[in-house]
Amino acid sequence: MNELTTQVFASDRAGLSGAAKLLVNGGLVAFPTETVYGLGVDARNSDAVARLYQAKGRPSFNPLIVHVASLENAEKLVVFDDTARALAQAFWPGALTLVLPLRLDAKISPLVTAGLETLAVRVPDHPVAQGLMVAFDGPIAAPSANPSGEVSATKFAHVRDQMTGRIEGIVDGGDCGVGLESTIVATQPKPTLLRAGGLPVEALEAALGDELALAGETAAPSSPGQLASHYAPKGTVRLNAIDLEDGETLLGFGAVDAAVNLSPSSDLIEAAARLFDALHQLNALGAEKIAVSPIPDHGLGRAINDRLRRAAAPRSGAAT
Ligand code: TXA
Ligand code: MG
Repeated sequence: MNELTTQVFASDRAGLSGAAKLLVNGGLVAFPTETVYGLGVDARNSDAVARLYQAKGRPSFNPLIVHVASLENAEKLVVFDDTARALAQAFWPGALTLVLPLRLDAKISPLVTAGLETLAVRVPDHPVAQGLMVAFDGPIAAPSANPSGEVSATKFAHVRDQMTGRIEGIVDGGDCGVGLESTIVATQPKPTLLRAGGLPVEALEAALGDELALAGETAAPSSPGQLASHYAPKGTVRLNAIDLEDGETLLGFGAVDAAVNLSPSSDLIEAAARLFDALHQLNALGAEKIAVSPIPDHGLGRAINDRLRRAAAPRSGAAT
């Protein structure tokens, strides 16, 4: 692909209006959300979506999340059942993606859903994402703004380093607060967790008054992006490491002496926010064998461990 000129926009009104204009013209624009940076395109424009897949090097069977400014806008794209509406009212704007039946008149490009009859939607809780959606005034399809198979971007510098020359624009909105992708839930035929993420499962289960089923246990669609190498840093990964073996670099959690530490104070929220930056740092250090301290498997720890297990899995298949 030819090198593109990548414009950097400030997150003020003029910047957002320039970025929105690129989207209107079918351009690819990275922007911050509270979870990770997204790589946005007009979700109704198939040419633009095709260019997005190409820019990410993403396999085209992998569907995208559509970002909208409000529940009201989401209702124009998908059919909400009572459970989905209750979850949206409780957690939007926020790190929750709902997979729901696509409306026939939604005008979403079939490349966004990869031909599925469901659509993943969310309302991000970030002023810059909100500002961009208002300026653009339409649905924005946005996968995480990293090349396929690489670590998601949680800082402007990550996107700039990974995507310059591949996309038309980047809105510089600083760091992402949550640092993990959204939690993905389908409500039909029963509430099912498709991807653990930035909204803790416990919060969802408290709102539902019931446990979430796990993907694979029900007929709910699985998340095709949940492939093993999704979160791969360049080195191999060994989890639950108490001691360091020869040649290993420690990704620490808690009061340990580590090359990179997710949270010296064992704070899972801090660890989530730092996770992808830590993997970028380990790549920059040239770490070939990464050992990871044990991380408790509750709250955001569950999503962190999920990401790290994927990073630890043998490399094969596609990734987003
Ligand atoms: O926090 C996030 O969710 C970020 C920000 C940018 O919003 N986005 C993100 O997108 O993580 P991406 O493309 O990297 O991951 C989207 C996930 C994939 O695992 C994909 O398979 C799943 O959503 N997905 C999308 N549409 C789906 C559908 N109709 N049914 C099941 N899974 C779906
Ligand atoms: Mg991704």
